[in-house]
Amino acid sequence: MSRSTDPDDLRRCRFLVVGSGIAGLWTALHLSAHGAVTVLTKSQLRETNTQYAQGGIAVALPAADSPELHRRDTLEAGAGLCDEPAVTVLTREGPDIVRELIAHGAQFDQLNGELHYGREAAHGRNRILHSHGDATGAEVQRTATEAIAQLPNVTLHEQMAAGDLLVVNGQCVGLEAMEVGTKRRIRFLADCVLLATGGAGNLFRYTTNPPVATADGPALAFRAGAALRDMEFVQFHPTALAAPGYPKFLISEAVRGEGARIVDAEGRPFMNAYHRLAELAPRDVVARAVFTEMRKANADCMYLDFSPLGDESKLRQRFPGIVEELQRRGFHPAGQPIPITPAAHYMMGGVMADLHGETQLPRLFACGECADYGVHGANRLASNSLLDGLVFGERSAAAMSAVQPLEPELEQAARVATLQLLPALRPEARAQIQHLTWEGIGIVRNRLDLEQAEAELGRFRRETEQVETADLEALEAANMAQVAWLIACAALERRESRGAHFRTDYPQTLEEWRRHIVLRQSAGRLEMHYQAVALE
Ligand code: SIN
Repeated sequence: MSRSTDPDDLRRCRFLVVGSGIAGLWTALHLSAHGAVTVLTKSQLRETNTQYAQGGIAVALPAADSPELHRRDTLEAGAGLCDEPAVTVLTREGPDIVRELIAHGAQFDQLNGELHYGREAAHGRNRILHSHGDATGAEVQRTATEAIAQLPNVTLHEQMAAGDLLVVNGQCVGLEAMEVGTKRRIRFLADCVLLATGGAGNLFRYTTNPPVATADGPALAFRAGAALRDMEFVQFHPTALAAPGYPKFLISEAVRGEGARIVDAEGRPFMNAYHRLAELAPRDVVARAVFTEMRKANADCMYLDFSPLGDESKLRQRFPGIVEELQRRGFHPAGQPIPITPAAHYMMGGVMADLHGETQLPRLFACGECADYGVHGANRLASNSLLDGLVFGERSAAAMSAVQPLEPELEQAARVATLQLLPALRPEARAQIQHLTWEGIGIVRNRLDLEQAEAELGRFRRETEQVETADLEALEAANMAQVAWLIACAALERRESRGAHFRTDYPQTLEEWRRHIVLRQSAGRLEMHYQAVALE
C-alpha cells in the first residue's frame, strides 16, 4: 500500500542527523552555524552507547606521548586492516578536539591539579582521559547535550524512529520516520543526512550495549544502496559481569589497566599463556582467551581479581560507578573475584565512508560507530571510539556544510514521492537472531556454524514484511536480521583469522586477506567485492 505524504507530516531542514550519541551531537553542534539542523533519536536523547562508555577517551595529550605513538598502537591493535590515513587523522586531530571538548565544559579527572591519564589494553602509554572515575561517556554526553540545548537552530525529536532513507534520483534527500508512541509517519527532507546511529551489540545474546543499539544505520544504508565494509569484525569485550540481566554490565578495561588480573575458578591467572602483554593484550586476544578457558572448564564464567588495586576505599576512589553497581548486585570486588564473560561491545565495520564521513550514496554521510572509514581495522583500540565520534563528527560537519541545497526539481520530486513502506519483522525474532549470532558468528567461528547462521539469518531476513506503520521492536528486528545476515556473509567469505574475526578452520592471518570486504545491494542482490587497505 502506498499513499502521498500529507503535507502536515513533512518537515524540511538543511541538515538531518540520525542519532544522539557523541558522533551525532558533535556533528550537529558544528553544523548549527551553517543552517537548521534536525536531530532524530528513537529513544531518549541520552540513551546512547556514548552515555554508557566507562573507560575514557584515548588522546595523545600527555607530554610523554605523541600522536605518532598513539597511531602506532592503533595500527597494531587493528591487525593490519586499519586505513593508515584515517588513523593519522584520528590521532593527529584528537588533541585539539579534546581541548575543544574541555572548552565546552567537559570535566576530566585530575591528580595534583593536572589531568590524569589512565592506561588500557594495548596502549603503550598512559593516555586515557576519564571522568568521575569510570563515567566518562556520561560526562561527554552531558557536555554535548548542554552545548546543543543552547542552539536555537537545532531541533531535537526524541522517540522518532528512522524507517528508511528517502532516495530520489539516486540521491539521499531525507528519511521516512515514525513517531514511536503514535506510529505517525513523518517525512524529513534535508539537503544531506548523517547516520550516527551507534552500535550493533543487540544482535548478540550477550552485549554491553543498551537495548537501542540494533545496527539501524548500516541496515538503512544497505537498503538504500550504500556500501558497507568490514562487517565481519565485531568486538567482544572480555570483562562483562557474568550475572543475569540485560544488557551485561561492563567492567572497564581500565580496571585491568590499574592491575586487576583475570583468573580461573581456582584463582589462577592464565593470560600470560596467551600473550606477552597478559591482561593488557589487545581486546580480541583477551576475549578469546576468556572464552577458551570457559569452554575448557565447561564453565559459564571466569573471574576478575581486583585485589591488586588495594582496599575498598582505593577501589571506590578510582572506580566509584563500577564498585557501586557491583555492590548493588551483591558482588564485593574488594573481597571476592568477580564473575566475568565476554559480551558483544563494538562494531568495527559499518557504512563505508571517506575521511569526511561521505558515503557512496550522494548526500548521505555517516560517522561514529555505525560508520567505517578504516580507523579501527580488525580490532578497535580501547577508548578510541569517543575520539572517533569527535574527530570524524567535526570533519563530517565541515563536509556537510558545503553540500549544495536540493535543486528545485529534486526538492519537488522528494516532496511528492509516494510514501515508502517500512521493513518490519515479528519482534519475537529478536531472541532467535541473538541466539543464532552468538552460536554462529560469535567469538570463535568456523565454516559449518557460519553456513548454518547465514542460512537461518537469511530466512529471518526474507520473512521481513513491508508495512505502512509498525512497532519500534518490529523495525529493529528487521534491521537486526538484515545486518546479522550480512555479518555472517562477510565472516564466511573471510577465510583467515584476523583481529576480532577468528576461525578455527582458518586460524592463520594471511597476507592475501589483508583487504576489506565491501558489501552492497544491487537490484535486490548482494554484491561483494574487495578493497585494498589504504597505506601511507
Ligand atoms: C572499557 O572501559 O573497557 C571500554 C572502553 C572502550 O570500549 O573503548
